[in-house]
Amino acid sequence: MSLPRKVTLVDVGPRDGLQNEAQPVSTAVKIELIHRLQEAGLPSVQATAFVSPKWVPQMADNAEVMAGITRKPGVAYPVLVPNRKGLDAAMAAGAKEIVVFGAATEAFSKKNTNCTIAEGVARFSEVCDEALKNGIKVRGDISVCLGCPYEGEVSADAVAHVAREMAQIGCGQITICDTIGTGTAGKTRAAIEAVAKHIAIERLAIHMHDTYGQAIANIYAALECGITIFDSSVAGLGGCPYAKGATGNVATEDVLYLLDGLGIETGVDMKKLIAAGEFICGVLGRPTSSRAAKALAAKMAA
Ligand code: HMG
Ligand code: MG
Repeated sequence: MSLPRKVTLVDVGPRDGLQNEAQPVSTAVKIELIHRLQEAGLPSVQATAFVSPKWVPQMADNAEVMAGITRKPGVAYPVLVPNRKGLDAAMAAGAKEIVVFGAATEAFSKKNTNCTIAEGVARFSEVCDEALKNGIKVRGDISVCLGCPYEGEVSADAVAHVAREMAQIGCGQITICDTIGTGTAGKTRAAIEAVAKHIAIERLAIHMHDTYGQAIANIYAALECGITIFDSSVAGLGGCPYAKGATGNVATEDVLYLLDGLGIETGVDMKKLIAAGEFICGVLGRPTSSRAAKALAAKMAA
Protein backbone atom coordinates (compact mmCIF):
# COMPACT_ATOMS: atom_id res chain seq x y z
CA MET A 1 0.00 0.00 0.00
CA SER A 2 1.53 3.35 -0.99
CA LEU A 3 1.32 6.29 1.41
CA PRO A 4 1.29 9.97 0.36
CA ARG A 5 4.78 11.53 -0.01
CA LYS A 6 3.65 14.88 1.39
CA VAL A 7 0.82 15.97 3.71
CA THR A 8 -0.58 19.26 5.01
CA LEU A 9 -0.77 19.68 8.77
CA VAL A 10 -3.29 22.18 10.12
CA ASP A 11 -2.62 23.18 13.73
CA VAL A 12 -5.98 23.90 15.34
CA GLY A 13 -4.53 24.57 18.82
CA PRO A 14 -5.17 28.32 18.93
CA ARG A 15 -8.85 27.64 18.19
CA ASP A 16 -9.86 24.10 19.24
CA GLY A 17 -7.30 24.12 22.04
CA LEU A 18 -7.97 27.49 23.56
CA GLN A 19 -11.77 27.47 23.09
CA ASN A 20 -11.97 24.88 25.82
CA GLU A 21 -9.78 26.54 28.46
CA ALA A 22 -11.52 27.41 31.73
CA GLN A 23 -8.83 29.98 32.57
CA PRO A 24 -8.63 33.13 30.46
CA VAL A 25 -5.84 33.21 27.88
CA SER A 26 -4.75 36.67 26.78
CA THR A 27 -4.93 37.80 23.18
CA ALA A 28 -1.17 38.40 23.24
CA VAL A 29 -0.53 34.76 24.18
CA LYS A 30 -2.83 33.53 21.39
CA ILE A 31 -0.97 35.69 18.88
CA GLU A 32 2.42 34.51 20.11
CA LEU A 33 1.29 30.88 19.86
CA ILE A 34 0.21 31.44 16.24
CA HIS A 35 3.55 33.12 15.46
CA ARG A 36 5.49 30.24 17.01
CA LEU A 37 3.50 27.68 15.05
CA GLN A 38 4.06 29.45 11.75
CA GLU A 39 7.76 29.75 12.55
CA ALA A 40 7.82 25.99 13.19
CA GLY A 41 6.68 25.57 9.58
CA LEU A 42 2.98 24.86 9.95
CA PRO A 43 1.39 25.76 6.60
CA SER A 44 -2.01 26.35 8.20
CA VAL A 45 -2.91 27.55 11.70
CA GLN A 46 -6.57 27.70 12.69
CA ALA A 47 -6.49 31.09 14.33
CA THR A 48 -9.84 31.69 16.05
CA ALA A 49 -13.63 31.38 15.74
CA PHE A 50 -16.22 33.99 14.79
CA VAL A 51 -18.91 32.29 16.87
CA SER A 52 -21.29 33.82 19.39
CA PRO A 53 -19.33 35.04 22.46
CA LYS A 54 -22.36 34.00 24.50
CA TRP A 55 -21.68 30.42 23.48
CA VAL A 56 -17.87 30.43 23.49
CA PRO A 57 -16.49 33.44 25.39
CA GLN A 58 -12.92 32.17 24.93
CA MET A 59 -13.05 33.24 21.26
CA ALA A 60 -14.54 36.70 21.89
CA ASP A 61 -11.24 38.39 20.97
CA ASN A 62 -11.38 36.94 17.44
CA ALA A 63 -10.95 40.28 15.62
CA GLU A 64 -8.06 41.32 17.89
CA VAL A 65 -6.29 38.02 17.28
CA MET A 66 -6.64 38.41 13.50
CA ALA A 67 -5.45 42.03 13.67
CA GLY A 68 -2.43 41.08 15.79
CA ILE A 69 -1.02 38.33 13.57
CA THR A 70 1.97 39.14 11.42
CA ARG A 71 1.01 37.00 8.47
CA LYS A 72 3.70 34.83 6.94
CA PRO A 73 3.51 34.36 3.16
CA GLY A 74 2.24 30.90 2.26
CA VAL A 75 0.56 30.31 5.63
CA ALA A 76 -3.24 30.02 5.89
CA TYR A 77 -5.18 31.24 8.93
CA PRO A 78 -8.61 29.58 8.71
CA VAL A 79 -11.31 30.65 11.17
CA LEU A 80 -14.56 29.01 12.26
CA VAL A 81 -17.79 30.63 11.09
CA PRO A 82 -21.26 29.36 12.10
CA ASN A 83 -23.51 31.83 10.26
CA ARG A 84 -23.73 34.99 8.16
CA LYS A 85 -22.96 37.22 11.14
CA GLY A 86 -19.75 35.29 11.73
CA LEU A 87 -18.81 35.51 8.06
CA ASP A 88 -19.27 39.27 7.98
CA ALA A 89 -17.07 39.66 11.07
CA ALA A 90 -14.46 37.25 9.69
CA MET A 91 -14.30 39.12 6.38
CA ALA A 92 -13.99 42.45 8.19
CA ALA A 93 -11.06 40.94 10.10
CA GLY A 94 -9.38 39.90 6.84
CA ALA A 95 -10.01 36.14 6.91
CA LYS A 96 -9.18 34.40 3.63
CA GLU A 97 -10.26 30.90 4.67
CA ILE A 98 -13.27 29.88 6.73
CA VAL A 99 -14.56 26.67 8.24
CA VAL A 100 -18.28 26.02 8.55
CA PHE A 101 -19.12 23.22 10.94
CA GLY A 102 -22.01 20.82 10.93
CA ALA A 103 -22.56 17.42 12.49
CA ALA A 104 -23.40 13.87 11.51
CA THR A 105 -26.10 13.63 14.20
CA GLU A 106 -29.12 15.77 14.99
CA ALA A 107 -28.45 15.81 18.73
CA PHE A 108 -24.92 17.16 18.35
CA SER A 109 -26.00 19.72 15.76
CA LYS A 110 -28.56 21.05 18.22
CA LYS A 111 -26.15 21.15 21.17
CA ASN A 112 -23.31 22.80 19.27
CA THR A 113 -25.13 25.17 16.93
CA ASN A 114 -28.73 25.23 18.13
CA CYS A 115 -30.16 24.02 14.84
CA THR A 116 -30.96 20.82 12.94
CA ILE A 117 -28.52 19.40 10.39
CA ALA A 118 -30.71 20.71 7.54
CA GLU A 119 -31.02 24.19 9.09
CA GLY A 120 -27.25 24.25 9.51
CA VAL A 121 -26.67 23.31 5.87
CA ALA A 122 -29.10 26.06 4.78
CA ARG A 123 -27.17 28.63 6.88
CA PHE A 124 -23.85 27.40 5.51
CA SER A 125 -25.17 27.56 1.97
CA GLU A 126 -25.70 31.31 2.29
CA VAL A 127 -22.30 31.64 4.01
CA CYS A 128 -20.58 29.63 1.21
CA ASP A 129 -22.18 31.68 -1.59
CA GLU A 130 -21.06 34.95 -0.04
CA ALA A 131 -17.60 33.67 0.90
CA LEU A 132 -16.88 32.22 -2.53
CA LYS A 133 -18.10 35.44 -4.19
CA ASN A 134 -15.43 37.23 -2.12
CA GLY A 135 -12.65 34.79 -3.00
CA ILE A 136 -12.64 33.14 0.43
CA LYS A 137 -11.94 29.41 0.64
CA VAL A 138 -14.48 27.31 2.54
CA ARG A 139 -14.00 24.07 4.38
CA GLY A 140 -16.83 22.08 5.94
CA ASP A 141 -16.11 20.20 9.17
CA ILE A 142 -18.47 17.39 10.15
CA SER A 143 -18.47 16.64 13.88
CA VAL A 144 -19.11 13.30 15.59
CA CYS A 145 -18.43 11.20 12.46
CA LEU A 146 -17.07 8.27 14.48
CA GLY A 147 -19.32 8.45 17.53
CA CYS A 148 -21.65 10.92 19.22
CA PRO A 149 -21.82 11.71 22.95
CA TYR A 150 -25.63 11.93 22.69
CA GLU A 151 -26.60 9.37 20.01
CA GLY A 152 -23.77 6.81 20.28
CA GLU A 153 -22.89 4.92 17.09
CA VAL A 154 -22.85 6.91 13.86
CA SER A 155 -23.11 5.15 10.51
CA ALA A 156 -20.69 5.81 7.67
CA ASP A 157 -23.76 6.48 5.48
CA ALA A 158 -24.88 9.30 7.80
CA VAL A 159 -21.41 10.86 7.49
CA ALA A 160 -21.45 10.49 3.69
CA HIS A 161 -24.90 12.10 3.51
CA VAL A 162 -23.80 15.28 5.34
CA ALA A 163 -20.49 15.32 3.44
CA ARG A 164 -22.34 15.35 0.11
CA GLU A 165 -24.53 18.22 1.25
CA MET A 166 -21.50 20.22 2.40
CA ALA A 167 -19.83 19.59 -0.96
CA GLN A 168 -22.99 20.55 -2.87
CA ILE A 169 -23.23 23.95 -1.17
CA GLY A 170 -19.63 24.76 -2.14
CA CYS A 171 -17.25 23.55 0.57
CA GLY A 172 -13.96 22.91 -1.22
CA GLN A 173 -12.68 20.66 1.56
CA ILE A 174 -14.65 18.36 3.83
CA THR A 175 -13.33 17.23 7.21
CA ILE A 176 -14.27 13.99 8.91
CA CYS A 177 -14.05 14.81 12.62
CA ASP A 178 -13.86 12.43 15.56
CA THR A 179 -15.03 14.98 18.10
CA ILE A 180 -14.99 12.68 21.12
CA GLY A 181 -12.12 10.44 20.06
CA THR A 182 -14.02 7.15 20.19
CA GLY A 183 -13.13 6.17 16.64
CA THR A 184 -11.00 3.19 15.68
CA ALA A 185 -8.94 2.53 12.56
CA GLY A 186 -11.74 0.38 11.13
CA LYS A 187 -14.38 3.06 11.68
CA THR A 188 -12.06 5.70 10.24
CA ARG A 189 -11.53 3.68 7.10
CA ALA A 190 -15.27 2.96 6.71
CA ALA A 191 -16.18 6.66 7.04
CA ILE A 192 -13.49 7.72 4.55
CA GLU A 193 -14.49 5.04 2.06
CA ALA A 194 -18.18 6.03 2.30
CA VAL A 195 -17.40 9.71 1.74
CA ALA A 196 -14.78 9.06 -0.96
CA LYS A 197 -17.46 7.39 -3.12
CA HIS A 198 -18.82 10.90 -3.68
CA ILE A 199 -15.96 13.33 -3.02
CA ALA A 200 -12.38 13.16 -4.32
CA ILE A 201 -9.94 11.99 -1.64
CA GLU A 202 -7.75 15.10 -2.16
CA ARG A 203 -10.64 17.20 -0.84
CA LEU A 204 -10.95 15.26 2.42
CA ALA A 205 -9.33 16.14 5.74
CA ILE A 206 -9.22 14.32 9.07
CA HIS A 207 -9.64 15.89 12.54
CA MET A 208 -9.04 13.50 15.42
CA HIS A 209 -9.42 13.94 19.15
CA ASP A 210 -7.38 11.46 21.16
CA THR A 211 -9.66 10.55 24.06
CA TYR A 212 -9.21 6.78 23.63
CA GLY A 213 -5.59 6.96 22.42
CA GLN A 214 -6.56 5.82 18.93
CA ALA A 215 -5.83 8.95 16.94
CA ILE A 216 -2.40 7.94 15.62
CA ALA A 217 -3.72 4.55 14.48
CA ASN A 218 -6.69 6.31 12.88
CA ILE A 219 -4.39 8.74 11.09
CA TYR A 220 -2.31 5.86 9.77
CA ALA A 221 -5.50 4.24 8.45
CA ALA A 222 -6.41 7.56 6.82
CA LEU A 223 -2.94 7.80 5.22
CA GLU A 224 -3.47 4.33 3.77
CA CYS A 225 -6.74 5.60 2.27
CA GLY A 226 -4.82 8.48 0.62
CA ILE A 227 -5.82 11.36 2.91
CA THR A 228 -3.30 14.22 2.79
CA ILE A 229 -4.76 16.87 5.15
CA PHE A 230 -4.67 16.40 8.92
CA ASP A 231 -5.74 18.61 11.81
CA SER A 232 -3.88 18.35 15.10
CA SER A 233 -3.17 20.54 18.06
CA VAL A 234 0.17 21.55 19.51
CA ALA A 235 0.70 19.84 22.90
CA GLY A 236 -2.62 18.02 22.38
CA LEU A 237 -4.69 21.00 23.47
CA GLY A 238 -8.35 20.99 22.64
CA GLY A 239 -11.90 19.88 23.13
CA CYS A 240 -15.37 21.04 22.29
CA PRO A 241 -17.37 22.63 25.13
CA TYR A 242 -20.48 20.91 23.71
CA ALA A 243 -18.97 17.40 23.60
CA LYS A 244 -19.02 15.91 27.08
CA GLY A 245 -16.02 13.81 28.05
CA ALA A 246 -13.97 14.69 24.98
CA THR A 247 -10.31 15.45 25.49
CA GLY A 248 -7.84 17.28 23.28
CA ASN A 249 -6.94 16.88 19.68
CA VAL A 250 -4.20 14.50 18.72
CA ALA A 251 -0.94 16.32 19.44
CA THR A 252 0.81 17.82 16.41
CA GLU A 253 4.13 16.59 17.82
CA ASP A 254 2.84 12.99 17.88
CA VAL A 255 1.52 13.22 14.31
CA LEU A 256 4.81 14.76 13.16
CA TYR A 257 6.77 11.95 14.82
CA LEU A 258 4.67 9.43 12.88
CA LEU A 259 5.05 11.29 9.58
CA ASP A 260 8.79 11.93 10.03
CA GLY A 261 9.23 8.23 10.73
CA LEU A 262 7.44 7.37 7.50
CA GLY A 263 9.52 9.89 5.54
CA ILE A 264 6.39 11.91 4.68
CA GLU A 265 7.13 15.57 4.03
CA THR A 266 5.38 18.25 6.14
CA GLY A 267 7.79 21.19 6.29
CA VAL A 268 7.42 21.27 10.09
CA ASP A 269 10.44 21.49 12.39
CA MET A 270 10.06 19.26 15.45
CA LYS A 271 12.31 21.30 17.76
CA LYS A 272 10.48 24.56 17.07
CA LEU A 273 7.14 22.78 17.38
CA ILE A 274 8.11 21.36 20.78
CA ALA A 275 9.19 24.85 21.87
CA ALA A 276 5.77 26.23 20.82
CA GLY A 277 4.12 23.50 22.90
CA GLU A 278 6.35 24.31 25.89
CA PHE A 279 5.41 27.97 25.54
CA ILE A 280 1.65 27.38 25.71
CA CYS A 281 1.90 24.68 28.39
CA GLY A 282 3.99 27.11 30.47
CA VAL A 283 1.26 29.72 30.21
CA LEU A 284 -1.48 27.22 31.04
CA GLY A 285 0.57 25.75 33.87
CA ARG A 286 0.27 22.12 32.92
CA PRO A 287 2.37 19.48 31.16
CA THR A 288 2.06 18.69 27.48
CA SER A 289 -0.29 15.89 26.43
CA SER A 290 2.11 14.91 23.65
CA ARG A 291 3.98 11.67 24.34
CA ALA A 292 6.52 12.44 21.60
CA ALA A 293 7.14 15.98 22.91
CA LYS A 294 7.69 14.65 26.44
CA ALA A 295 10.11 11.97 25.30
CA LEU A 296 12.03 14.18 22.88
CA ALA A 297 12.29 17.06 25.38
CA ALA A 298 13.71 14.65 27.98
CA LYS A 299 16.21 13.33 25.41
CA MET A 300 17.26 16.84 24.41
CA ALA A 301 17.71 17.81 28.08
CA ALA A 302 19.87 14.73 28.79
P1 HMG B 1 -28.26 31.00 18.75
O1 HMG B 1 -28.32 31.37 20.19
O2 HMG B 1 -29.28 30.04 18.22
O3 HMG B 1 -28.19 32.24 17.75
O4 HMG B 1 -26.82 30.40 18.50
P2 HMG B 1 -28.88 33.61 17.68
O5 HMG B 1 -28.86 33.97 16.22
O6 HMG B 1 -30.19 33.59 18.41
O7 HMG B 1 -27.83 34.56 18.45
C1 HMG B 1 -27.68 34.59 19.84
C2 HMG B 1 -26.78 35.77 20.20
O8 HMG B 1 -25.48 35.55 19.68
C3 HMG B 1 -27.25 37.08 19.57
O9 HMG B 1 -26.82 38.12 20.44
C4 HMG B 1 -26.47 37.15 18.29
O10 HMG B 1 -26.29 38.46 17.82
C5 HMG B 1 -25.14 36.55 18.71
P3 HMG B 1 -27.92 38.99 21.27
O11 HMG B 1 -28.85 39.53 20.23
O12 HMG B 1 -28.56 37.99 22.20
O13 HMG B 1 -27.06 40.01 21.96
N1 HMG B 1 -24.45 35.89 17.60
C6 HMG B 1 -23.19 36.13 17.27
N2 HMG B 1 -22.26 36.96 17.81
C7 HMG B 1 -21.04 36.95 17.22
N3 HMG B 1 -20.71 36.15 16.18
C8 HMG B 1 -21.61 35.32 15.62
C9 HMG B 1 -22.91 35.29 16.19
N4 HMG B 1 -24.01 34.59 15.89
C10 HMG B 1 -24.95 34.99 16.76
N5 HMG B 1 -21.27 34.53 14.60
C11 HMG B 1 -24.92 29.99 17.08
C12 HMG B 1 -26.43 29.91 17.24
C13 HMG B 1 -24.53 29.16 15.87
C14 HMG B 1 -24.52 31.45 16.87
C15 HMG B 1 -24.26 29.45 18.37
O14 HMG B 1 -24.78 28.19 18.62
C16 HMG B 1 -22.75 29.34 18.29
O15 HMG B 1 -22.05 30.33 18.20
N6 HMG B 1 -22.25 28.09 18.31
C17 HMG B 1 -20.83 27.83 18.21
C18 HMG B 1 -20.44 26.78 19.19
C19 HMG B 1 -18.96 26.52 19.07
O16 HMG B 1 -18.19 27.42 18.74
N7 HMG B 1 -18.55 25.28 19.35
C20 HMG B 1 -17.16 24.90 19.32
C21 HMG B 1 -16.60 24.93 17.94
S1 HMG B 1 -17.06 23.51 16.98
C22 HMG B 1 -15.91 22.29 17.43
O17 HMG B 1 -15.14 22.48 18.33
C23 HMG B 1 -15.85 21.05 16.61
C24 HMG B 1 -14.66 21.01 15.66
O18 HMG B 1 -13.43 21.12 16.36
C25 HMG B 1 -14.66 19.70 14.89
C26 HMG B 1 -14.81 18.50 15.84
O19 HMG B 1 -13.93 18.23 16.64
O20 HMG B 1 -15.88 17.90 15.73
C27 HMG B 1 -14.72 22.15 14.62
MG1 MG C 1 -12.42 19.54 17.40
